[in-house]
Amino acid sequence: MTVSSSAPSAANEFNGRLAFITGAGSGIGAATARLLARRGASLALADIDEAAAHTVAGEIAQEGGRAIAFRVDVGDPRSVEDAVARAAASHGGLDLAVNAAGITGALTPCGDYDLDAWHRIVNINLAGVFFCMRFQIPQMVRRGGGAIVNLSSIMGSNAMAGTVAYTASKHGVEGATKAAALDYADKGIRVNAVAPGYVDTPLIARRKAEAHERMVALHPMGRIAQPGEIAQLIAFLLSPQAAFITGSVHMADGGYSAR
Ligand SMILES: NC(=O)c1ccc[n+]([C@@H]2O[C@H](COP(=O)([O-])OP(=O)(O)OC[C@H]3O[C@@H](n4cnc5c(N)ncnc54)[C@H](O)[C@@H]3O)[C@@H](O)[C@H]2O)c1
Repeated sequence: MTVSSSAPSAANEFNGRLAFITGAGSGIGAATARLLARRGASLALADIDEAAAHTVAGEIAQEGGRAIAFRVDVGDPRSVEDAVARAAASHGGLDLAVNAAGITGALTPCGDYDLDAWHRIVNINLAGVFFCMRFQIPQMVRRGGGAIVNLSSIMGSNAMAGTVAYTASKHGVEGATKAAALDYADKGIRVNAVAPGYVDTPLIARRKAEAHERMVALHPMGRIAQPGEIAQLIAFLLSPQAAFITGSVHMADGGYSAR
């Protein structure tokens, strides 16, 4: 594919495309939904918090965009299968996916880590990304192509004490992203991961309240990210401008991992 001056402008580059976003009711997922809608995509917004997904869909509709909302539990493969099938049926196929649903846990050393918390975090953050790709990819194969972005983290390549489950889950997301990318590299489906530093969303609200200055100091830019900044990178990776990019992890971390 040639990217030329006749390529669609950013304002309409996703026209006619359906994007399925998990974790779409909040934070990075919601910011990505709003940005893709402004660039012409139709949205299928999936979240375990169905009311939050409906709120974002309503805001997008008010701005003239197209969005429908679903309840999904990404830790339950049958729930994911159902939501992806309903979304694809609503549009005649699926083109794009952003797998952003995720949770954190209490900071606890490995030797004391709660076993249920391990299973919950790994099931939602890692198995959940696999379940999503498992049902999104066949829809994209039927469509003849597609693009997926999975949400990793700086904890996908580094670690922080007390986060064994979250760190392991995000390392796993990066591996699953690369393996899936290789499976479909010659079939028109690109799979990448985005690895943010700390982002100002409800996910980190408690830690931000307790240790905002320490959190900021980890980032050489001297601040944490806004969700819209991460959405810009996700949108780029989904766009035709990223046509040669697959199987890779893209940091947006204010310099966190550079030192
Ligand atoms: N905020 C950060 O600092 C940060 C940094 C790096 C990576 N990330 C990653 O980015 C992604 C989005 O995080 P965020 O900061 O926007 O968080 P957020 O808490 O604002 O949003 C996460 C959304 O996921 C939904 N969710 C939780 N469990 C779910 C489930 N089982 N099924 C479906 N939906 C579920 C929540 O209801 C929520 O709407 C996560 O994967 C997170 O690990 C966040």
